Amino acid sequence: MASCLQIADDEKGHDLDLFCVPRHYESDLDKVIIPHGLIMDRTERLARDIIQDMGGHHIVALCVLKGGYKFFADLLDYIKVLNHNSDKSVPLTVDFIRVKSYCNDKSTNSVKVIGGDELSNLSGKDIVETGRTMQTLLSLLSECNPKMVKVVSLLVKRTPRSSGYRPDYIGFEVPDAFLVGYALDYNEYFRDLSHICILNDQAKEKYKV
Ligand code: IMP
Ligand code: MG
Repeated sequence: MASCLQIADDEKGHDLDLFCVPRHYESDLDKVIIPHGLIMDRTERLARDIIQDMGGHHIVALCVLKGGYKFFADLLDYIKVLNHNSDKSVPLTVDFIRVKSYCNDKSTNSVKVIGGDELSNLSGKDIVETGRTMQTLLSLLSECNPKMVKVVSLLVKRTPRSSGYRPDYIGFEVPDAFLVGYALDYNEYFRDLSHICILNDQAKEKYKV
């Protein structure tokens, strides 16, 4: 099973005052749970693991928008650095797909998929909660008969709502809380926040639709 960095359920996180957080979000967040630097360090290692496992296969890196865009871009930057500086390198092309399933902090039970013209080999994803979004996407991808599909997710949530689905590569396993930042949103807000943070209840009301 994919190894990952465990963020414990009783993790206290870090005070917001210790980091730079946009003023407009200061009263909406409880704690910084994964600082941006730690996200980058873990992503660098995921890039190395992926390149080691992929051999010389051509990678079509498929970004799952919108929440996966930061992770995707940073992961690919690290893969590019490895491609530039080692004897072994893999050809890389990119594609983008958009999925939407959430309203407020709850799943709507329907997964809408838009875009993507060449679907094979590798997916980059923000967060897996129940696993339903990824399972829907994987059954769609299988219709294109790809040689291989590997899923990379920055976060997997420990939750009783999980279907048991596990991605091939995981950055962090996180407690069952609603997280925002590093492109993860609450009704489209908080994508412009660098750290992954826990949203407070007041903010859930403030940005509710
Ligand atoms: P799943 O289908 O239950 O695995 O949910 C995955 C999708 O739900 C993600 O791609 C996100 O869009 C959204 N999601 C689940 N948990 C969170 C969270 O804590 N913060 C932000 N979005 C989340
Ligand atoms: Mg979302």
